[in-house]
Parts: sequence; C-alpha cells; structure tokens
Amino acid sequence: MTTEKICRVGVVGAGQMGAGIAEVCARAQADVLVYESTRDLVAAGRARILSSLDRGVSSGKLTERERDQAVDRLTFTSDLGDFADRQLVCEAVVEDEAVKTAIFTQLDKIVVDPHAVLASNTSSIAIMKLGMATQNAARVIGLHFFNPVPVLPLVELVTTLMTAPEVTARAESFAHDVLGKQVIRSADRSGFVVNALLVPYLLSAIRMVESGFSTVEDIDKAMVLGCAHPMGPLKLADLVGLDTVKAIADKMYEEFEEPLYSPPPLLLRMVEAGRLGKKAGHGFYEYE
Ligand code: CAA
Repeated sequence: MTTEKICRVGVVGAGQMGAGIAEVCARAQADVLVYESTRDLVAAGRARILSSLDRGVSSGKLTERERDQAVDRLTFTSDLGDFADRQLVCEAVVEDEAVKTAIFTQLDKIVVDPHAVLASNTSSIAIMKLGMATQNAARVIGLHFFNPVPVLPLVELVTTLMTAPEVTARAESFAHDVLGKQVIRSADRSGFVVNALLVPYLLSAIRMVESGFSTVEDIDKAMVLGCAHPMGPLKLADLVGLDTVKAIADKMYEEFEEPLYSPPPLLLRMVEAGRLGKKAGHGFYEYE
C-alpha cells in the first residue's frame, strides 16, 4: 500500500488522445514524459500539444505563464526504457490489441515501482487482456478519456477481476483530484459505458447515409438542432477518426455478436480509401 502522490506520469503515444492526456497532466502540475516511436512522431505530438495549449490561451482558459509552465513539465522520448521511474503510465496508442499487449509486456518490465499504475486509454479492448500481458495484472487498469481531452470532463475507470483496490483508488484519485475529471466506473466489457451507447448511434447515422435515408448535413443538423448535441454523429465520427470507430465497432462486435455493432460497408470503404476523418483532411466532411 502506498499513499505517495503521483507526480511522474508517462504517456505512451502522442496522437489525438495521447497528446490530450499529456496536456491535461502537464497542466495539472505533473512531470510528463511522452513516448512516440520515431523522431517525426515525437515532433508531430509535441506540435499537437503546443497548438492545443495555445488554443487554451487564446480562449482564455489558461494564461501564457501557465502554458509555459506546462510546456516546461513535458519531455519527449523514443525510448520506452526511459519510463522506469514513472508512477503512472497511460497508454494511448492505436486501437490494436497486439500493439497494446506488446506495450504492456514491455512497460511491466520497465516500470520499477510495484505500486505504479499501468493504465490504458483503450475504448474497446478488454483491460484483462492487457493485464494478462504483464506479470502483475494487479497494477493494470483502464482510464478512458474523451476527445478533446482538455475540454471533456469525463474519465471512465475500468477495473478487472485482478486490479488491486489500492491501484483503483490511486488511479481514481489522480483522475479526479489531480486532473479535475469526473469519474464513472464501468465493468471491463468492450466499449465500456460511453461507447456501448455511442457507437451504435454513430453506425446508425452511417447506415442512414448509406441507404439514402438523409444527407450527411441533414443528419448532423437534425441532432444538433433537434437534440442539442454539440455536433452531429457524422462530424463526431470524423472527429473520433473513422479507423478508430471501425476498430472499436469490430471489437464490440467480436465481444457481443450484436448486429448493431457491426461496421457498415460504407465505413469499411471510407477507411480503405484513407478517408479517416478530420485527422486525414477528408471524411464525411472536407477539412483544411
Ligand atoms: N484547452 C482548454 N479549453 C479549450 C481548448 C483547449 N485546448 N480547446 C477548446 N477549449 C474550450 C473553448 O474555450 C470553449 O470553452 P467555452 O465553451 O467555455 O467558451 C470550449 O472548449 C469549446 O471550444 P470551441 O468553442 O473552440 O469549439 P466548439 O464550441 O465548436 O466545440 C467541441 C468543439 C468541444 C469538440 C464540441 O463540439 C464537442 O464537445 N463535441 C462533442 C465531442 C464528443 O462527443 N467527444 C467524445 C468523442 S468519443 C471519445 O472521445 C471516446 C472514444 O472512445 C471514441
């Protein structure tokens, strides 16, 4: 049992989610080490975080001094071996089970502190599988953030049959007390609470486009104006990334064999075409 405060955080992956997680941790006074596999990806991840911090300044959410202090707390590496002294690591790489389990196997050997928390930001892969890729599944947990991470206040906390209560308490306290997020608990079931509800909705909107039921613009307009959602389902699918929506849907379908979770052909074709949404510049909409 340890009550040591978590000050040294590691984030594996600096894509949309990893960059957002690293940003909120640095803004919350943590020393944050961010891993990406190549120098180019490190540079892209760093630029992503700096641009979001600048956006925070321009929208009055933080001062220039707070932004500079957050930048000073961030360091970057392409060597996972540098994570040895981390007290909490959050993995946020591509939604691929083989890639994630390989990272957990490595992290387990690298991170020295037996009380350190090894967390995953997966949306759909069983946390138990990631735990079983290590020698100490008691320290493995799910901490699932929402995009854009600096803006959305929720974290889903996902414990497995083997997560230690002490690890759960540390992870929850970090998300709530340090990061200021609202925490809800979910069972270790593919999709957890949010995606179990959100993904069938996004897929239904894509099926509506596919069948000619309505247009992309009108479906989005319907949900923004008719239900006061901040954005419609097709713009949201673009924001999440269509490859990620497909990967989550595939995993949920594999777990439940529920037809509502089965990705429709239009989604498959768009992913095959590289029309992956906002990050690719093309999806259901065009982006600059
Ligand atoms: N740091 C701090 N604050 C920021 C910021 C940053 N980097 N960027 C934006 N903000 C703030 C803005 O200041 C603004 O605050 P106020 O409302 O107080 O003025 C607020 O965030 C909204 O920003 P914008 O006005 O620039 O943008 P917007 O009003 O067009 O909203 C949006 C954009 C936040 C993305 C909004 O449309 C939204 O919430 N959409 C839904 C997103 C959603 O559902 N995400 C969940 C996806 S599912 C997921 O992530 C998990 C998964 O597993 C798939």
